[in-house]
Amino acid sequence: MPQPEPAAVIVDAEVAVVGAGAAGLYAALTAARAGARVALVSATPLAQTASYWAQGGLAAALDPTDSPDLHRKDTEIAGRGIVRRSAAQLLCREAPRAVRELEELGVVFDRNADGTFGLGLEGGHSKRRVVHAGGSATGRRVVRQLSAVVVEEPRIEVLEQARAAAPWTVDGRLVGIVLEDGRAIRARSTILATGGAAALWARTTNPPGSLGIGLMLARQAGAALADLEFVQFHPTAVTSIPGREGFLVTEAIRGEGATLLDANHERFVEELKPRDEVALAVYNTMQAQGTTHVWLDMRHVDPMSFPNVVGALRESGLDPATELVPVSPASHFCMGGVVVDLDGASTVSGLYVVGETACTGLHGANRLASNSLTECFVQGKRAALAGLDEPRLHVAPENPPVAAPIPAPTQATRDALWRHAGLTRDAAGLEQLRDDPHPLAQLVAECAILRQESRGAHVRSDFPEVDPALDGHHAVVRNGGAPTFERWT
Ligand code: SIN
Repeated sequence: MPQPEPAAVIVDAEVAVVGAGAAGLYAALTAARAGARVALVSATPLAQTASYWAQGGLAAALDPTDSPDLHRKDTEIAGRGIVRRSAAQLLCREAPRAVRELEELGVVFDRNADGTFGLGLEGGHSKRRVVHAGGSATGRRVVRQLSAVVVEEPRIEVLEQARAAAPWTVDGRLVGIVLEDGRAIRARSTILATGGAAALWARTTNPPGSLGIGLMLARQAGAALADLEFVQFHPTAVTSIPGREGFLVTEAIRGEGATLLDANHERFVEELKPRDEVALAVYNTMQAQGTTHVWLDMRHVDPMSFPNVVGALRESGLDPATELVPVSPASHFCMGGVVVDLDGASTVSGLYVVGETACTGLHGANRLASNSLTECFVQGKRAALAGLDEPRLHVAPENPPVAAPIPAPTQATRDALWRHAGLTRDAAGLEQLRDDPHPLAQLVAECAILRQESRGAHVRSDFPEVDPALDGHHAVVRNGGAPTFERWT
């Protein structure tokens, strides 16, 4: 006789947060400090998330000669005509406050001898604007400190080594989330902060878990996705060093004077141009010279400023203080994601999305370096507070759905994304990718097919120019349909 499904164990909270990277931790802390009971779901032990890997810092206009308006202009220039202005204005205005709030939570940012912030320079920034904690160890320091504060916060229940498996919706409203282990969290708002999808591409700087789980959960709940054709390729990921494939060498090192050299040891690009330009120049140089990498020359950069990069390379037998580092582009950050407003609210009531999982339109077609970590805090806070304005669940729903397995990419899918939706694409390759079994690979292909132009990180060899008619337009996928362009302001 078939056995009935055992009743699910239900955890009640006001806010459920899925993902314990920078955005998730900050959202959980904000909600808890506003008096809410929070359930925080972390697939890994706390402090081992993708944010932990982040070497970049937080972009914030803190220098006296800088301003939020200049920061916004740089964001818009890097984003190539489709940055949503309201999102950029908000981020740039709130960024200095986010830095101060993190300091209040115990994060120690690098300062100069005179007490001012030690501000780094990265591609596309017209000013020194990037605050770090421990140089290139910023992600690790910030996430460690926030995790320590979260653990001490009595209103936050941390469900470690737990994974979200399905959205729980009732009459179109999200009422919680089902976990892989059969438990379910019932909450008036649920915040997805599960990171991006860059590890779907075969060559990546991201940890292996960055597979777009949050995008698939949100889509299952009925939420709209956008801008999936825009994945940013980082120009300087290590290659040809065993055990270090894809290891990121932070752009901040170029900010301190490191140069990129071709096979003839000649410079071929201005190293601090926005990232799309530098990555494409590296790719084109490799193609033209028939090489698998270019060289990063950081021999004149103080190794003490980037201890974890220098340490990792030395451990692998290469001393960047005396030798050139072989680097080539790797998939790094998804500009697209779940469509949200400036409070992180998705198109499904009760569902909020923050960090790289979300798409506010802030990053346009090419994210300005280090805007994303700042965004985690600005948006994480806003989503937590907005979620507390959701109406309470007057009748507690019972019987969460039974989760179906979330599709995992095969190596063939990862290779196909790299081959057909890599630094350059064309219709023939994208049509092949559209037939891939993985749902996100299909959606990337559909958005990239729709965008018949080259803009930012999306370079179509068959449509090499920008189409000005598409300025401000985002490829949006709603209700399981094909993507269509929508103009965002
Ligand atoms: C880097 O440090 O080069 C990466 C930082 C970022 O992606 O913003």
